Amino acid sequence: MEVLVLSFSLALVLLSISLTIFSFKRRSGGAKNLPPGSMGWPIMGETLEFLFGKPEKFVFDRMKKYSPKIFKTNILGEKTVVICGPEGHKFLFSNEQKLFTAFRPHSMQSLFRSYKATAAPVKILILMDSFNAKTEQFEISDSKKPGELLDWDDLQKMKYSWNVVYEVMRLTPPLQGTFREALEDFTYAGYTIPKGWKLYWTVSTTNKNPEYFEDPEKFDPSRYEEGSGPAANVFVPFGGGPRMCPGKEYARLAILTFIHNVVKRFEWEVLFPNEKIMGDMMPTPEKGLPVRLRCH
Ligand code: HEM
Repeated sequence: MEVLVLSFSLALVLLSISLTIFSFKRRSGGAKNLPPGSMGWPIMGETLEFLFGKPEKFVFDRMKKYSPKIFKTNILGEKTVVICGPEGHKFLFSNEQKLFTAFRPHSMQSLFRSYKATAAPVKILILMDSFNAKTEQFEISDSKKPGELLDWDDLQKMKYSWNVVYEVMRLTPPLQGTFREALEDFTYAGYTIPKGWKLYWTVSTTNKNPEYFEDPEKFDPSRYEEGSGPAANVFVPFGGGPRMCPGKEYARLAILTFIHNVVKRFEWEVLFPNEKIMGDMMPTPEKGLPVRLRCH
């Protein structure tokens, strides 16, 4: 009798698990021609891999397994399609408010509020240590009278410095990417993206992709030199289209002015050259990146 009750209970448990998975699958797609991909575990989806794995690994694994153009997933509690590569970026940047609108998951809103305060200085301090083109900055400061401030033309001359900043942003992006929400059902790359689903674009699909950047792990600011720079929509640290970062020019001005003044006034020494950088979504040095400065 006990065996019978036990078998019956087991059958009930199995049945309810199957029903949960079946209804989860139905809810996450129905009969539409959805992009390939996995919705991961019920409720959690693939959030853990997304948040705690390497961003490039998350996208490259799936681009290889499902499609280099698009794959579906379930992250941060949202049914999501990840749109990949320069073609994907172009599609995202040119259909704003037609097919989709901005969507900021709750967890991302606090990320958005704080990244400007932490990530940019972190990047600059890292680049200072590898920065070997002080000549550019000294040439500019030598051309100024004592006390004369930098002007717009001086910023235009800081080409190499900006290429260094670009290369830092490619290797450790201050912001990985952002979400949109589909306003209606639409088709991309032959697949249906249902109304209400989220779209995610991320710099990870191109930044370290050997298809677009030769020897992608190598720090090489010459990649952005005039005439040899990346093709359109490949390198998009500030996004693109109507939602392109409105702080881009301000960020450029602040970063270049900061570099100029530090190079002009100080020698520096990074106290922990191999300091660990924590977090891929918002990279931050473990010890706060202490630097010893000495006046020239
Ligand atoms: C190196 C520094 C920065 C980088 C790499 C960066 C990058 C980005 C990216 C990728 C986006 C998302 C675009 C999208 O959703 O498609 C964005 C949006 C935004 N950024 Fe920046 N940003 C930087 C600095 C700044 C600064 C200094 C400000 C303000 C002074 C700023 C203000 C904003 C705002 C308000 C948005 C939202 C725009 C919208 O949703 O329409 N950013 N930024």
